[in-house]
Amino acid sequence: MRRPAPRLEYYVPQNGGSVADFGECARRGLRGPKKSLDPRFLYDERGSEIFERICSLPEYYLTRAETEILERAGAELASMLPPRCRLIELGSGSSTKTRIILERMNESQGAVTYSPIDVSRALEGASRELLESYEWLSIVGVEDTYESGLRLAHSACGGPALIAFLGSSIGNLTGSAARSFLSTVASVMGPGDLLLVGVDLDKPESALVPAYDDAAGVTAEFNLNLLHRINSELGSSIDVSKFAHHVVYNAGERRIEMYLRSLEGQEIEVCGSRIGLRRGELVLTEYSHKYTREGIESMVSSAGLRVARTWHDSARRYALVLCSGA
Ligand code: AVI
Repeated sequence: MRRPAPRLEYYVPQNGGSVADFGECARRGLRGPKKSLDPRFLYDERGSEIFERICSLPEYYLTRAETEILERAGAELASMLPPRCRLIELGSGSSTKTRIILERMNESQGAVTYSPIDVSRALEGASRELLESYEWLSIVGVEDTYESGLRLAHSACGGPALIAFLGSSIGNLTGSAARSFLSTVASVMGPGDLLLVGVDLDKPESALVPAYDDAAGVTAEFNLNLLHRINSELGSSIDVSKFAHHVVYNAGERRIEMYLRSLEGQEIEVCGSRIGLRRGELVLTEYSHKYTREGIESMVSSAGLRVARTWHDSARRYALVLCSGA
């Protein structure tokens, strides 16, 4: 008797390392004269929950703009995909946006294989929920970083793929890191593969700053959670009330810069290193780059890709860019 193929396959490469990695990165980032904490550590379980709340804040237009584009252009996107195309998503994929793409792909091609790639443990739970909703769906998930997870997901099943990198996550990379990341994605892409990237567009400071410094203080909670995480995971005893969330728009670099500002002169200890902070000293926690049309073109072409189609939301605040191999 033939057994049905499993609808959920799930890879967890054994390259380990989170606590030691976090401690070493935090200690190194806080030691120099320009202090920083790596933004990837914003997303522990609590950070990811707070981020979900950010996505529905009135000031944070990005998620709504991207969803609006997918609702309007999803069918056109699906019509541009080759037959039997699978969806590889760089990110956890529990969201409404993933569901829109999967449903449009199902309408145009029937059965769909979906490969979410994420370092988060939440990946498997999100996948099971999707499988409960869609009987036409198979999932091959990879719990790993985007770059190595993409190679694995790409080689694990054959056929063309739409690779989605949504939510303006590309903006959290510096210009050169974004180009090199896209070049890596391009090097994995085969003929017929397409890449869909969500990009936040540059706009006046008066619209950008509130999106990252909301009235309800949710983004502040997200940022300060990094210090709570250092306390609980690395055994520090930082007084979090001695820090404040601080956001500036750097017009020259076209980016939001998010910092933790020390409210007084103080000394903290992280993984055995004593770190002195002056009153007003800033610790960088995240960049969020904003792009012009020309900036998108140049980033995409320098990665060896070509813009095949760009969609905007009705207020033209955000772009979804479909790229093919050049
Ligand atoms: C995940 N990323 C695209 C968000 C952004 O808009 O840069 C992270 C974020 N940080 C503060 N608010 C949202």
